[in-house]
Amino acid sequence: MNAQARVKLLLAAAAILASTSAALGQSDSVWDGVYNDAQAERGGAKYSQYCAMCHGRDQEGNGEAPPLVGHFIPDWNGTSLADLFEKVQTTMPLFAPGTLSANDTADILAFLLKANNFPSGAKTLEPGSDLKSISFEAAPHIGVPHMKSRPAK
Ligand code: HEC
Repeated sequence: MNAQARVKLLLAAAAILASTSAALGQSDSVWDGVYNDAQAERGGAKYSQYCAMCHGRDQEGNGEAPPLVGHFIPDWNGTSLADLFEKVQTTMPLFAPGTLSANDTADILAFLLKANNFPSGAKTLEPGSDLKSISFEAAPHIGVPHMKSRPAK
């Protein structure tokens, strides 16, 4: 098989995979516009109030509290947004864990996704079991353009 044929075959396989997982409703990743800008803005206000004193105004960290941009994302690669939600909801803010409402936590996650340059979309990130189906991937699927241009649900 020559290189071009191989690429075509790969793309076809990827398209089938993408459509299958879309049909199963479990294909979202943080690259699919899982929050919207208004939500990220609300989250930003809450971040300033509850998180910035340790994690920094620009999420740069303070030596003790780790940065929440940059290297932070690869650390969570392969998990789901439910894991990050759980981490924040049950252990942060460090001085008063468990005090954020579920909606506040979701808004703050939306803000952190935006701060890390994941694209926004029309949806609101809702707390709850759906977060398990949103995979956290540090890098987008390269060479699978179909996955990003899926028709809106
Ligand atoms: C009093 C200081 C403090 C505040 C306030 C605080 N954090 Fe943290 N945070 C820490 C420290 C220290 C760690 C590292 C230890 C740990 O993971 O528990 C951490 C860890 C984290 C992690 C894991 C980072 C990683 O690299 O895995 C996340 C996510 C996080 N914080 C989010 C938040 C959010 C969101 C808020 C606001 C709701 C917040 N934190 C408020 C001190 C703080």
